[in-house]
Amino acid sequence: MKNKIVVIGSSNVDLIMKMDRLPEKGETITDAGFFQVYGGKGANQAVGAARAGGNVAFVNCVGNDAYTPQMLENFRNDGLDIRFVFQETDIASGHALVMIGGEGNNYLSVAPGANYKLTPELIDRSMPVIDEAAMIIMQYEIPVETIKYVFRIAEAKDIPVMWNFAPARSFDLSYVAKTAILVVNETEAAFLCGQQVETDEEVELAAKKLQELGASLVIITLGKRGAFALSAIEKVAVPAFKVNAVDTTSAGDVFCGSFAVAQTEGKSLTDSLRFASAASAICVTRIGAQPSAPTRKEIDEFIGNNYVEKSHSIVI
Ligand code: RIB
Repeated sequence: MKNKIVVIGSSNVDLIMKMDRLPEKGETITDAGFFQVYGGKGANQAVGAARAGGNVAFVNCVGNDAYTPQMLENFRNDGLDIRFVFQETDIASGHALVMIGGEGNNYLSVAPGANYKLTPELIDRSMPVIDEAAMIIMQYEIPVETIKYVFRIAEAKDIPVMWNFAPARSFDLSYVAKTAILVVNETEAAFLCGQQVETDEEVELAAKKLQELGASLVIITLGKRGAFALSAIEKVAVPAFKVNAVDTTSAGDVFCGSFAVAQTEGKSLTDSLRFASAASAICVTRIGAQPSAPTRKEIDEFIGNNYVEKSHSIVI
């Protein structure tokens, strides 16, 4: 049986400033700590899935700058299949400026660079690995036409797509119907549904609306409050593990990558959510995107050592 997870998405060089608090508009903070790490939602999800134990291929386009060789070396060290990471020579790789304040809250600004060179034509060239996929994962940091193209190919080949609709921006919502697993946070859910998503009732209502748009499984991640999932047969609320967060960057990415691993291993919805929640709980205790993604051993030990309130699972 196929078990390959094919992540089609972005990679970035993250330049991080860590401060006690985020600056006000027009303010300069003078005692920040600086870190350069590797990020990008696609790459974070691919690395998160590989460290969680998945058999992962990454389809991406990088540029030609001083940071890129190390980024590629890291992918190899994490065991990613990068046969279809393409390289453009006349552009830099994607870059992100990340400002982290107290409690791990952040501001992000992304320059897509070579990520926007991942065209449908490069997807055609990636078909050998797409044909091996048990699941495709996408986000929203590559060109819109490429995302739509992958959705159509996946539908024709009957490959389930996990779509992390992040960062939120306008899109043809008819594509939600082609999504097997839609993962959004409260902000992204609010953007898609056109309603506030704060209370438990609003979360459930938003999930229902997204289900009505055609997603087979809807997951709304809720930060410190855990995650809520709705499928045609089940609704599950999973509480979060309690940890001291220092940086929430890429917590959602690690959630997606590890959830995909759990699902391709055949874990139940509740166990998959618990596994992904544990992985993202570990992630927020560390600084930086890819350096924070935990290994399978770390996730399993964390679940064994940390009490979490019981999940509420209802068969509909
Ligand atoms: O989700 C976090 C990621 O968003 C960062 O690593 C940054 O590169 C941006 O893509």
